[in-house]
Amino acid sequence: MVANIISGKEIAKSIREEIKVKVDELKEKGITPGLAVVLVGEDPASQVYVRAKGKACDKLGIYSETTTLPAETGEDELLKLIEKLNADEKIHGILVQLPLPKHINETKVLMAIDPDKDVDGFHPVNVGRMLVGDECFLPCTPHGVQELLIRSGNDPEGKHVVVVGRSNIVGKPVAGILMQKKDGANATVTIAHSRTKNLTELTKCADIIVAAIGKPEFIKADMVKEGVVIIDVGVNQVGETPEGKRILKGDVDFEGVKEKASAITPVPGGVGPMTITMLMQNTVKSAQQKLGGA
Ligand code: GUN
Repeated sequence: MVANIISGKEIAKSIREEIKVKVDELKEKGITPGLAVVLVGEDPASQVYVRAKGKACDKLGIYSETTTLPAETGEDELLKLIEKLNADEKIHGILVQLPLPKHINETKVLMAIDPDKDVDGFHPVNVGRMLVGDECFLPCTPHGVQELLIRSGNDPEGKHVVVVGRSNIVGKPVAGILMQKKDGANATVTIAHSRTKNLTELTKCADIIVAAIGKPEFIKADMVKEGVVIIDVGVNQVGETPEGKRILKGDVDFEGVKEKASAITPVPGGVGPMTITMLMQNTVKSAQQKLGGA
């Protein structure tokens, strides 16, 4: 079997068209959705992501402002900025790019964001709402994974999904979302991680594998069954071209695994474009909620 390539780029494009319609509707009612992005420090990968978020906003007509703070910024200063953004009427979504420098307490910062503006879905209140199945902002990458599955014709309903990786940003929430008793979910979910024994025994019986381990080409063809669906969340820089462009590899050995899988996402062009798209969707949703509640 040779896999269908699931184009996150194409799926993201069609979702962005849907979002643009909603932005235009809001503007007609006098509301421009607004996103504030905060970056602390000079991590090159974070700089790339933050720039891409601003650009995506511009394309959709969403207002955005990016605050870049030096790496040595104190926690208090960052908390004050969040307080200001919480009170800012123009801003419907606040995103603090992770990871933060070591001297800043990440949990404290995420908890300072108004849960109604938490378009990343990282505030413990939203994490809790997600897990119990209440209405909330879903975290962007896990929500993007779910949309990729649904829109590529691989509904997770009744399927055995093996999530490899247990981070708060991807592994845990993707499992939480796909196990819900809801349309587009209803999966049987197993979470594996770096301490899992006999990982291959688990991955071999997966109908769907979500790879979010952060190790380049970790999942090999001999670890998966024929016909598996692969969503590769990994973004690992393995080098640079002579022109200085980043060479990226996923967590899955794409060339080997695509011979066995029924569908697979590439890196880049798979999950990546979906993350930003779901962020745009959450920002618009927040603006709609404000309109509804005003
Ligand atoms: N760092 C890596 N992924 C993300 C994300 O989705 N949101 C934020 N805020 N930081 C990240």
